[in-house]
Amino acid sequence: MNTQSASQILAGLAFALLAPLVVATQVDQAAIIASKQDGSQWLSHGRTYDEQRFSPLDQITAQNAGKLGLAWSLDLDNHRGLEATPLFADGVLYTSLSWSRAMAVDARTGKTLWTFDPQIARDKGRDACCDAVNRGVALWNGKVFIGTLDGRLIALDAKTGKQVWSQQTTDNSKPYTITGAPRVVKGKVIIGNGGAEYGVRGYFSAYDAESGKMAWRFYTVPGDPNKPYEHPELADAAKTWKGDEYWKLGGGGTVWDGMAYDPELDLLYVGTGNGSPWNRELRSPGGGDNLYLSSILALNPDSGRLAWHYQVTPGDSWDFTATQQITLATLEIGGKPRKVLMQAPKNGFFYVIDRQTGGLLSAEKFGKVTWAEKIDLATGKPVEAPGVRYEKEPIVMWPSPFGAHGWHSMSFNPQTGLVYIPYQEIPGVYRNEGKDFVKRKGFNTGAGFSDTTAIPREAVSGALLAWDPVKQKEAWRVPYSHYWNGGTLSTAGNLVFQGTADGNFIAYSADKGKKLWSFGAQTGIVAAPMTYSLEGEQYIAVMAGWGGVAPLIGGDAALAPGAGNLSRLLVFKLDGKASLPPLPEKTVVAVNRTPKPVDASAADIAAGQQLYGGYCSVCHGVGAVSGGLIPDLRKSDEPRRDLFQQIVLDGVLRPLGMPSFKDSLEPADVEKIKHYVMSREYADYLKAQQPTAAKATP
Ligand code: HEC
Repeated sequence: MNTQSASQILAGLAFALLAPLVVATQVDQAAIIASKQDGSQWLSHGRTYDEQRFSPLDQITAQNAGKLGLAWSLDLDNHRGLEATPLFADGVLYTSLSWSRAMAVDARTGKTLWTFDPQIARDKGRDACCDAVNRGVALWNGKVFIGTLDGRLIALDAKTGKQVWSQQTTDNSKPYTITGAPRVVKGKVIIGNGGAEYGVRGYFSAYDAESGKMAWRFYTVPGDPNKPYEHPELADAAKTWKGDEYWKLGGGGTVWDGMAYDPELDLLYVGTGNGSPWNRELRSPGGGDNLYLSSILALNPDSGRLAWHYQVTPGDSWDFTATQQITLATLEIGGKPRKVLMQAPKNGFFYVIDRQTGGLLSAEKFGKVTWAEKIDLATGKPVEAPGVRYEKEPIVMWPSPFGAHGWHSMSFNPQTGLVYIPYQEIPGVYRNEGKDFVKRKGFNTGAGFSDTTAIPREAVSGALLAWDPVKQKEAWRVPYSHYWNGGTLSTAGNLVFQGTADGNFIAYSADKGKKLWSFGAQTGIVAAPMTYSLEGEQYIAVMAGWGGVAPLIGGDAALAPGAGNLSRLLVFKLDGKASLPPLPEKTVVAVNRTPKPVDASAADIAAGQQLYGGYCSVCHGVGAVSGGLIPDLRKSDEPRRDLFQQIVLDGVLRPLGMPSFKDSLEPADVEKIKHYVMSREYADYLKAQQPTAAKATP
């Protein structure tokens, strides 16, 4: 028994004292509400239920931000986009990686405490429009919750990372995916899903945090008209749809990101997504608002019954989701404090809504918007520009399916009264596929998405936009040459933090937008930063790792920033002394061949382009120009080019994330795709031969 020497016991004691204080995480309603005043913890996705992403911590300020340095960093075994906001409770950071993996990290040392891998079958990546990403976890009563790409909602023990329960929230024979962070309200875990590009019917559900039992489900669009409505709200919705096809096509309205909760009004706010397919003409021939697409819904969190709704984009035809961040605040409008809800959805208007009634207070363009002239405050509806529904003629317009603002979190600083929006400027091209529309087991827009041959980098830009929601106008902006930048965090130290596509992590003054400090992160950053306080010190953390839909689909424009994916959790503090290892040298394998004219008919190549657009562009880039995250098919080396059929049909690269398309494509189709890719390679080769200025795509 008494084999331990006194010194061993002392050493053990010292270890116990120095070890991180991992006490049982008591995260509940009261704790999340209380965290609004106390900035030390970050307990929910948008920090607090109002999702302001504002922290009252003020140790790091505009005066001393120049002294920020890396406290520690953690290399992550991750090669796809990182979009999560880590949560922080009692000394531990909880976050997620691509392919729905979760982890807990000691916030003081950066040591991994546990990891959880739900083992997503890599073929499932085919159903994910926008990379195998995950936007984060939720915490409640000693548990960590994560939604997985294959539609599971999983509860983990916060201390060990071991699974407590798992629920399949979707029908996995359908192309549903989960990328969004769950929220927990009154002991119920709220989770939605994505998949509207692939033909699904949107819904979100509430599960009991303890037992995993489903409490309620709210469908955002009506289903099979021959069956009874699942809940009464769908009877109203059904009146706004036309034809009898939409429910077979899915309808859309998926709930894949923004949510907020007001404990005083006891209302849960949820944003819904675009129509499926995008083109209303095909989905609901003859028109209609198509409720509850692209809407903000206010619900009773106990019953799941609708209190009010506001439709942001009636009869959406452009992939204009209203899933963007929902932020609650009290603003002084017309001399009176008003409880408002704010959103900067994809469609480019900044909305301020009375969150008790759903009444629209104001809506103004926060960027380049050509699809609508204005939002009519009397009707709450947009005044659309002529021809914008592209029924007869294709159209180039702003914003695009990427949105003037995507999922990249914004923040609201009550001290400056400003909202910090990661603004995106990219044109959208739409064409009515009309009778040619085919519903594939792939990306279905009905809007000619496959036609796009590339998005030129000259056509895009971005900005950090400081928006005054009361005046409904810009306060200041920091322009960026690229659009796909990170989410924002604002703090009581008069600061705004943001990572950028070109691999910097930057602190600006919140009132004026003055650049105060910047850190070379070696990778493009798309996630939003967060902050916490531990043993009297304030830290700033961000998941750094380039990815998301832009680097997959985005072609040339997405390649422009060039920072690539090098996945790390970066944590900063004042006088932090750690540093990153030197950037590993890029190994570029030059393909040594002279492209030849493709031995195939123009019709075959055109058919290959259509198939490529529907099945491949979502990962390999529009126009066969890869955004840099996934191989550029024009540049495959000889062995892989020779294995084209086996790669695409037999799934020989499946473990690396390249799905099999055996259920959708015949060998002859694959040959056509290959010919299209080779024709693109040849066209680029010819362009490169020209001595003139017109040297185009990389
Ligand atoms: C869900 C995303 C996804 C989709 C959709 C997809 N791919 Fe891929 N593909 C990948 C990934 C990831 C790899 C890289 C595997 C690796 O790391 O080598 C890859 C690699 C390949 C390669 C090997 C290229 C090389 O040079 O290494 C070929 C060929 C290929 N894909 C063809 C296709 C075709 C054709 C389609 C459409 C029918 C398609 N892919 C659709 C993800 C995808």
